[in-house]
Amino acid sequence: MMWISYAILFLGLFSKCATQTIDDARALTSSLLANYSRILKPKLNQTVPVQVSIGFHWLTILEFDEIQEKLSIICVTYLFWKDELLTWTPEDYGGLLTVEFESHQVWTPMFVLVNTVQDIKKFGYGDDWLYVNYDNYGSAKFFPGGVLSAKCDVDVTYFPFDSHKCNLQISTWGASNNYMNITPMSAVLLLKYYAPNGKWDLIYTAVVHFKKHHYIEFTCYLLGNLVL
Ligand SMILES: *[C@@H]1O[C@H](CO)[C@@H](O)[C@H](O)[C@H]1NC(C)=O
Ligand SMILES: *[C@@H]1O[C@H](CO)[C@@H](O)[C@H](O)[C@H]1NC(C)=O
Repeated sequence: MMWISYAILFLGLFSKCATQTIDDARALTSSLLANYSRILKPKLNQTVPVQVSIGFHWLTILEFDEIQEKLSIICVTYLFWKDELLTWTPEDYGGLLTVEFESHQVWTPMFVLVNTVQDIKKFGYGDDWLYVNYDNYGSAKFFPGGVLSAKCDVDVTYFPFDSHKCNLQISTWGASNNYMNITPMSAVLLLKYYAPNGKWDLIYTAVVHFKKHHYIEFTCYLLGNLVL
């Protein structure tokens, strides 16, 4: 008799999938956004800050300019938080477990690169078409990326070795501790997708969280590749 109950179980699973219709998706998205305001922090209790965790995937060094003391990199940030206003009961929507919204429709965390060599602007700004992915508990995943160009003091301590320490200072500019807290996901830069640079070796990275001052410092040490 066991196989019959298994068969019923599987039928149950399949029928659950089969009932996820366009109407379910339409009902879910319109219900979620009906009273939604993206200018409110996504907490039911508005006195509690939003906890955002940030992972910093470094893809490559675009340019390191020793004269202008400027480091430009391409990176992707992994941002995770919980939007308590975007939760639902899957059974009410044909078992739908996830939903995507474009970032211009929903609340997203604001942070900036402080020691930028360009204008200070919200990271990921202009990427309003990027998707934010949610599960039914409101767990949000957002992956904005781009070029960051930071001011980087050239270090001649170990001259003639061409080694430099650069910091990227990321801050939740102007946000109080009651509004939002960002915490780093790891103690080092994430280099899983890193493509080495021919001229500069990345020899060491570190991530330091200055909680009181609302910023995270991503540090790297670069060593020049001597081409003889
Ligand atoms: C939106 O808010 C109004 C007024 O509070 C309420 O009557 C309505 O049920 C809400 N709609 C949804 C989908 O939550
Ligand atoms: C909201 O959070 C604050 C701080 O944790 C707490 O003191 C307060 O009781 C909460 N309010 C409600 C309505 O749960």
